[in-house]
Amino acid sequence: MAGRTVAPEAGLLGTKLHVPLPRRELVPRPRLTELLRVDESRMPRLVVVSAPAGFGKTTLMTQWLASNSCRVAWLSLDPMDSDLRRFLTHLVAALQTQAIGVGAEALALLDTDRAPPTQSILVSLINNLDQLPGSTVLALDDYHVVEALEVHEALTYLLDHLPPRVTIAISVTGSSWIIWWRRYCVANPTTSAASSSPPPCCMS
Ligand SMILES: Nc1ncnc2c1ncn2[C@@H]1O[C@H](COP(=O)(O)OP(=O)(O)OP(=O)(O)O)[C@@H](O)[C@H]1O
Ligand SMILES: [Mg+2]
Repeated sequence: MAGRTVAPEAGLLGTKLHVPLPRRELVPRPRLTELLRVDESRMPRLVVVSAPAGFGKTTLMTQWLASNSCRVAWLSLDPMDSDLRRFLTHLVAALQTQAIGVGAEALALLDTDRAPPTQSILVSLINNLDQLPGSTVLALDDYHVVEALEVHEALTYLLDHLPPRVTIAISVTGSSWIIWWRRYCVANPTTSAASSSPPPCCMS
């Protein structure tokens, strides 16, 4: 895979793509890190870390990701990512930090004045992800800031068709995302939660 990368004029904020580094010595959280322990050859499709604001969700996700050898594409979301085009552009940029050619065709499809052809973009992205060797985690930090139904639908489509070696990990706070989560669980009855619902950490 090679080709198109996100253009500088796309308004990309590069710091949204960095896995945050801990700024202090961390207190061990064995119960939570144990919940997130997984066999890397059998990575879950979805990992959700949910807790109130400031409870250490981002830190826990980074600890978990640092403890395994998967490829990690990180995206810190902000309220402007409720715009589908911006969300998809940043999603591709996050993946391209780890695998340069991923999403080249998706970017070409996004480059239109009309509404982006979401399904074609996602199909192309999923096919690219399917060709990647090894395991990949796409981490979406602060997913609760996304309010747009079309972004939730895009993520649901991605989850529904995710290649077997790809995991989506999201951190969320508040309750607005639970509507999306419940809908996802109803559509995917095999979803298992490692804790009660809504869970602090869960996997499917
Ligand atoms: N295990 C830990 N040991 C020490 N400090 C921690 C630990 N986990 C988190 N912190 C500190 O607590 C603060 C909040 O952590 P973090 O940003 O991970 O929380 P959050 O739940 O993601 O917050 P937000 O809701 O704002 O996104 C940070 O200053 C972080 O360094
Ligand atoms: Mg956070």
